[in-house]
Amino acid sequence: MARLLISSLILAVHGSEIQVVYNDYSFAMVNLASGLGECWGDSRFGGDCSSVDFTGVTKVSANARSMAALTSSGGVCWGPGGLSNGGDCSGVALSGMKDLYYTDFSFAAVDPVEGRGVCWGNYRYGGNCTTIDFSHVTQIAQNRFAYAAFSASTGTMQCWGSDRYGGSVAAGGGACAAFTGTSLDVSGTTQIIAGKSAFVALNKNAGTITCWGLSSQGGDCSSVTLTGITDVYTNGVAFLALNKNTGSGQCWGNTAGGDCSAIDFSGEVQIFSTQSAFLALKPGSGQCWGNTAEGGDCSSVDFSSVSRIYSNSFAFLLLDDAKLPQCWGRSGYGGDGCSSGSLQGFNIYATSRAFAAINTVQPRDFR
Ligand SMILES: *[C@@H]1O[C@H](CO)[C@@H](O)[C@H](O)[C@H]1NC(C)=O
Repeated sequence: MARLLISSLILAVHGSEIQVVYNDYSFAMVNLASGLGECWGDSRFGGDCSSVDFTGVTKVSANARSMAALTSSGGVCWGPGGLSNGGDCSGVALSGMKDLYYTDFSFAAVDPVEGRGVCWGNYRYGGNCTTIDFSHVTQIAQNRFAYAAFSASTGTMQCWGSDRYGGSVAAGGGACAAFTGTSLDVSGTTQIIAGKSAFVALNKNAGTITCWGLSSQGGDCSSVTLTGITDVYTNGVAFLALNKNTGSGQCWGNTAGGDCSAIDFSGEVQIFSTQSAFLALKPGSGQCWGNTAEGGDCSSVDFSSVSRIYSNSFAFLLLDDAKLPQCWGRSGYGGDGCSSGSLQGFNIYATSRAFAAINTVQPRDFR
C-alpha cells in the first residue's frame, strides 16, 4: 500500500488531473483527464471500485467508510451504503452537482451556481438536507458529524446533521442547534472555521466570533475576551483566535491545544498544527503547545533557519534553508528518524500518518 501511495503521489506531481482520496481503510485514485479510476485497500470500505464507471469524473471524495464521485452525467458511490455510511447514492439526483462535502457518515453534493444541494448517508449525521435552502449559500463547512451553510445575502446560518456537533435536531436540517432560543448573531460572518466537532463563525469586520457544537472541543468560546480578532485556527479539537494587529491570541477547546496563555503571538507569526498541538512560527523562533507527544514540545528544535514547515496528524517536519530536516512529534509517525541529509530537490508530502520525500529525477524514497 505504501508503494502504491508513493506511485500515486508521483503521478500527482506530473498533473493536477490526478485526484487521490483515502479513509482509514482504503485509497481511491482517479484521473480526471482519462476518466479512469483505481482503488485499493479494504474492499468493504471503498477499496474495490472495479465496477465503478468513472467516465467524465470531475470530483472524488471519501468519508470515514465510503467513497463518492461526481461525473458529468451524475455521480457514483461505493463502499457500504445504508443508514450509517453513504456508499449508495442510487436514486440521488446528482446531475449538475459541482462540489462534494462529507461528514464521517454522509455526503452532500452542491451546485453553488444554481443553488441546489442533495445529501445522502446517515440522516443523523448529515445525510438529509431536504429543508436546507441552498439558493443564497456562500460558504459550506463540515465537521465529522454536521454541516453548516452560510448565506451572506440573508445573513443566515443553516445547519444539518448531529445537533450535538453543531448540526440541527430537525431531520432535514434547520437552525443550528446552539442557536435555537438564543440571540447569537452570525449575520456578518466572513468565514466559517470547522473543527472535528464544532464550528466557529468569524466576523472579521467586527473582530468577533460565534461558536457552536461540542463544547469540550471548541463549541463554547465564552471564555474568549479577545477583541479585534483577525484570524481563527484549529487543530480539530482546539481553536486559536488571533488579533494580528495587536499580536495577541487566545485559545479554547480541548486541552490538546486549548491553552496558549504562555505563548507570545507578537510580531510576524504563522500557525501550523497537528491533530493535538500547535506551532507558532516567527522569524528565528518557534513556540509549541498542546499534546507534547504529538508536536506540542519543540524546545529542542532549532528555528534559526526555516524554509518550510510540514505537518501530519502526529508530527511536524521543518526544512531549513539548506533543506536539512528536523522533525518532532510521535515516533513512528514522522516525529523521529528524519535525520538524513539534505532533501534538496525532493518534493515533500504529508499524509495523515507519515511524511514522504520524493525526488522525481532520481527516485529514492525516504521516511
Ligand atoms: C428527511 O427530512 C424530511 C424533512 O424533515 C423528512 O420529511 C424525511 O422523512 C427525511 N428523510 C429521512 C430518510 O429521514
